[in-house]
Amino acid sequence: MQQQGSPSRGSGGKVIIIGATSGIGRELATIYAKKGYFVGITGRRNELLISLQNKFPKNIVTECFDVTQKENIPHLQTLIQKLDGLDILIYNSGYGDVSKELDWDIEKRTTDVNVNGFVEIICYAFNYLVNQGHGQIACISSIASIRGNSHAPAYSASKAFESNYMEGLYYKAKRLKKDIAVTDIQPGFVDTGQAKGDGKFWVMPVQKAAMQMYQAIKKKKKRAYITKRWWLIAKILKWMPGFLYKKIG
Ligand SMILES: NC(=O)c1ccc[n+]([C@@H]2O[C@H](COP(=O)([O-])OP(=O)(O)OC[C@H]3O[C@@H](n4cnc5c(N)ncnc54)[C@H](OP(=O)(O)O)[C@@H]3O)[C@@H](O)[C@H]2O)c1
Repeated sequence: MQQQGSPSRGSGGKVIIIGATSGIGRELATIYAKKGYFVGITGRRNELLISLQNKFPKNIVTECFDVTQKENIPHLQTLIQKLDGLDILIYNSGYGDVSKELDWDIEKRTTDVNVNGFVEIICYAFNYLVNQGHGQIACISSIASIRGNSHAPAYSASKAFESNYMEGLYYKAKRLKKDIAVTDIQPGFVDTGQAKGDGKFWVMPVQKAAMQMYQAIKKKKKRAYITKRWWLIAKILKWMPGFLYKKIG
């Protein structure tokens, strides 16, 4: 029986979070589960998926897979079946590392996760929601999407791909006159294993960042900077002339 005062399973909707074993994705899954959503979580580390499911056995189902492999869509279909539907899909899986020597392994892994895995899963989810007539897709891209970065060129380019693709789908949904929201989340530095490199500033706790992301998705924003003051950095980066940007980029 549902505890008095706690929301019933799925009362908020059915949400899939691709990449919810650690960091931002795990925190987002926790927020959604606590708010009564029925949540499908994915990632390669099954023990971490199971440990989160054990905390919210009525609200979380899991599907363990690597987005760089060939079976993305069958896994996604299985997860949608486990949830018995889909309202929101969030693509959070991401990889990036400093590639000062332009290391092909880093560049390839980055584009496999942030471009190829992203586009395959988002494309399927968008078409699923078009057929259904409603829903929402969101992606955790990055402030890094705004300019090319000499230290991590594949990361900044892959995040630009995500962000640009989401904008395309935003207008596609409008053109199709479908009730589909498309949200691009652009965080600055968040305190997870992924925040790498020197010169980090305004590093925010993952709980605070994830709560702001949840709110931006709920409000169906087209684009959200997390935390909000990163809007200013986004504007400065966008308009900074090359002779200045070359000192930091
Ligand atoms: N932390 C920051 O400062 C920051 C800033 C801007 C944007 N972001 C973005 O935020 C997102 C989440 O990152 P995070 O900071 O929370 O780092 P994280 O803790 O390393 O989380 C990354 C997530 O991506 C999943 N993932 C990575 N490779 C995968 C693969 N091949 N197949 C399936 N899932 C994979 C991981 O799951 P498994 O390892 O279990 O597969 C994990 O759940 C990323 O897209 C990142 O680019 C982070």
